[in-house]
Amino acid sequence: MTAAPPQSRLPRHLAVIMDGNGRWAQRRNRPRTLGHRAGAKAVQVCVDFCLSRGIEALTLFAFSSENWNRPEEEVGALMKLFLRMLDSEVGELNRRGVRVAFIGDRTGFPEAIRERMAQAEALRPADQKLVLTIAAGYGGRWDITQACRSLAADVAAGRLSPEDITETLLDSRIGLAGLPAPDLFIRTGGDLRISNFLLWQLAYTELWFTETLWPDLSDEVLDAALAAFADRERRFGLTSAQVAGGAT
Ligand code: FPP
Repeated sequence: MTAAPPQSRLPRHLAVIMDGNGRWAQRRNRPRTLGHRAGAKAVQVCVDFCLSRGIEALTLFAFSSENWNRPEEEVGALMKLFLRMLDSEVGELNRRGVRVAFIGDRTGFPEAIRERMAQAEALRPADQKLVLTIAAGYGGRWDITQACRSLAADVAAGRLSPEDITETLLDSRIGLAGLPAPDLFIRTGGDLRISNFLLWQLAYTELWFTETLWPDLSDEVLDAALAAFADRERRFGLTSAQVAGGAT
């Protein structure tokens, strides 16, 4: 067994595309919705892992803007699962120091879910250890568009001039504002793409992909991702020598 990376080499913020629920179920000749239920258990594995490793922020892609186009039955089952998870998990998460937030367009969600989302976001753990952000009804292009729309409204109202618009200002209007950008992105399920997840926020994020299907997630898989991350040199456009603090 390899030693765990030191805290300084751990990601502060982990962003995850939880893919492979449907295939996990289909391989067992079971309905896709069973895969989502198994996926909900893997969410707990992931949250427990982040808490145990001292990771400060976890952002999970639970439902994309495009997922609304899935068969009605699957969307309905996912809505039921979200509602059940919000009812059963949020209180316990809060007690364990997990603050819950949501990013995405909530307009398509049933009122009961939107209410639970607002209630969950109003809770503030006494001793905050982790910020868990659930991306629901989310798309990276939607996120950039809504940030632009909010800036444009300020310009139209005379509160802002176009010259005042900087990357920092746009960043403050986008999902996850207030959190450091994700350091590490993980996608399970074997596909090598970003699928309209955090398009703005992932600019300098390290990417890691695994064939493991989301319901099969384990500490071993997540530790492998952390080990790969600890070996990466993050240069943010600089040279290796600059990063090492040597020649400029
Ligand atoms: C992608 O797998 C997964 C989803 C679209 C839903 C994710 C939902 C959960 C993990 C359960 C609830 C989680 C929260 C945070 C409330 P897929 O269906 O695309 O799998 P496939 O690629 O094998 O078809």
